[in-house]
Amino acid sequence: MTKNFYVTTPIYYVNGDPHVGSAYTTIAADVIARYKKTMGYDVYFLTGTDEHGQKVEETAKAKGMTPQQWTDSMAPRFMEMWKKLNIKNDDFIRTTEERHKKAVAKILKTVWEKGDIYKGEYEGKYCVSCETFVPENQVVNGNCCPDCGKELRMVKEESYFFRMSKYQDALLKHIDEHPDFILPRSRRNEVISFIKQGLQDLSISRNTFEWGIPIEFAPGHITYVWFDALTNYITAVGYENNAEEFAKRWTNGEVVHLLGKDIVRFHAIIWPCMLLSAGVKLPDKIVAHGWWTSEGEKMSKSKGNVVAPLEEVAKYGLDAFRYYLLREVTFGNDGDYSTKGVITRINSDLANDLGNLLNRTLGMYKKYFGDEIVKGGVYEEIDNEIKTLFTETLASVDDAMSRLEFSRALEFIWKFISRMNKYIDETMPWILVKDESKKERLATVMNMLVESLYKIAVLVSPYMPESAQKIWNQLGFNEDIEKALIENVRNWDIIPAGHKLGEATPIFPRIEVQKEVKEKNPVNKDLKIENPISIDEFGKVDIRVVELLEADRVKGSDKLLKFKVNDGKNIRQIVSGIAKYYPNPEELVGKKVLAVVNLNPVTLMGELSQGMLLSSEEKKRIKLVEIDSSVKVGSKIK
Ligand code: ME8
Ligand code: MG
Repeated sequence: MTKNFYVTTPIYYVNGDPHVGSAYTTIAADVIARYKKTMGYDVYFLTGTDEHGQKVEETAKAKGMTPQQWTDSMAPRFMEMWKKLNIKNDDFIRTTEERHKKAVAKILKTVWEKGDIYKGEYEGKYCVSCETFVPENQVVNGNCCPDCGKELRMVKEESYFFRMSKYQDALLKHIDEHPDFILPRSRRNEVISFIKQGLQDLSISRNTFEWGIPIEFAPGHITYVWFDALTNYITAVGYENNAEEFAKRWTNGEVVHLLGKDIVRFHAIIWPCMLLSAGVKLPDKIVAHGWWTSEGEKMSKSKGNVVAPLEEVAKYGLDAFRYYLLREVTFGNDGDYSTKGVITRINSDLANDLGNLLNRTLGMYKKYFGDEIVKGGVYEEIDNEIKTLFTETLASVDDAMSRLEFSRALEFIWKFISRMNKYIDETMPWILVKDESKKERLATVMNMLVESLYKIAVLVSPYMPESAQKIWNQLGFNEDIEKALIENVRNWDIIPAGHKLGEATPIFPRIEVQKEVKEKNPVNKDLKIENPISIDEFGKVDIRVVELLEADRVKGSDKLLKFKVNDGKNIRQIVSGIAKYYPNPEELVGKKVLAVVNLNPVTLMGELSQGMLLSSEEKKRIKLVEIDSSVKVGSKIK
């Protein structure tokens, strides 16, 4: 019986173009979908767009469009982006579609008839940008949203409420009985402690704007965010109109929701409670990944540091981009997108490890035997070791992938790749070839290598579909690698003698770090020098590396610290106005720093100062200029 696997991404808001964050989730979903296919699953992969809400209504108005026109112009931008990132989703849902409106109507009706919805009044603060109510105790900076920092609005309106509190115990029990329901563990713990603080009933309708799905039993009201958005996951698999499909994909299949940590509570609390009320099975896994920053900073349009996926793809290639995102951070942790990081990954993992294995293997094969696979069959202990390692690799990869631990799965694959590179060094085909009697052993070694690459290609194909296909092609296999099954590469000796190898060309060229940086940082030849001085003038200043021997506060001053320093020849005292920045001056003892040693001595607050310590100033943060501990005390700065 085929096993069914259903994976979803969040449906993204259409207020901006997709960026590295949404690309990350979508690529991760694509990778797990493709992986499950290689494991023989019947896979269904859904992504889409979240198109209702006050923000869309207001943005459209500002642009002189209807909300429908505006969302119609935005949704295709997501579809196109996913196509360019080689995302193979089976469906793309838009919440403005008829099928979705029907599904929302159905779940609302079911929950209403169950008696889990009642009329009340909502009074509180609302963030239009995040489309979310913000409880008073979470408000920041007077009247701002804790998530996006924007100004909150006070709303007071009639609203319908979902009796979420009723499901608190059932949900806790479910989480307790299903350890992998919320992944990773850290998120699970966070959700549990949140629920234990007590679940409130949830406002699910609004009646002060129009861009949403109307509620049948509540004239004048539209669904507020979550009953609309979350329901998309069941709409797409036939909840409202296709019982057979729904039973197959949802009730009897494995259901995995992938999302960022920003919306884990909605998915791990509100959504299961909705489903419990509606009598629908809960998803199997809710997997929340971490947050990407860009070169160490939060991404924002105003800073202009939002990573645009297609620009990265143009620079490094699609597969390198996909690989980097999933390899660089442990799934669940936050990650920092950096040019240096991407280049390092490409050069070491792709060009060096995988690329070299392929080049060396094909290069030697063709040199020693020509283009055709020759018969081997002379095995040694080392070959068994490789075979065992491969079997273990498959098991480890599957274990990691079952919890969506992408980087861990890649580590296992790369351990095998490295082992094969080492296998070349150990078997030394270039020595074997010199001995006619070792011909069959040489063929065996080379066949092991070709076959390992054939297998590796299948393992990396979910991450790097195009490159995996290229590896197959170079090995002489022109079948579609997207149809490959792990089951068919589990065993060895599957490439017959006489098989013809393909053309060998490097698939992962190394990237010159220097070149990248140079292009990014052109020298400004028209630079204007401010307050110029001559080299002789500079030469008058005697700057030395000194060691801090003692560091103390100056009595009666909250600004000054006094140091005993060794300048290489003498011990002197230097007073410095940095007390505010070093609340624990003792920590500085033993550090090597820079000091001007030929200033006229002065007395500050009664303390003699025989020089000046150099420090840097940045946004009001003053820091002593520390010198590498290997530099000798007394060295002159020139
Ligand atoms: O929340 N790092 O949509 P949204 C990592 N419509 N992931 C990021 C990211 C970043 N810097 N920025 C965005 C919504 N994401 C709702 C969802 S679902 C029923 C409704 C990804 O457009 C991440 O997956 O704000 C996050 O959860 C999602 O985009 C939020 O997308
Ligand atoms: Mg968001």
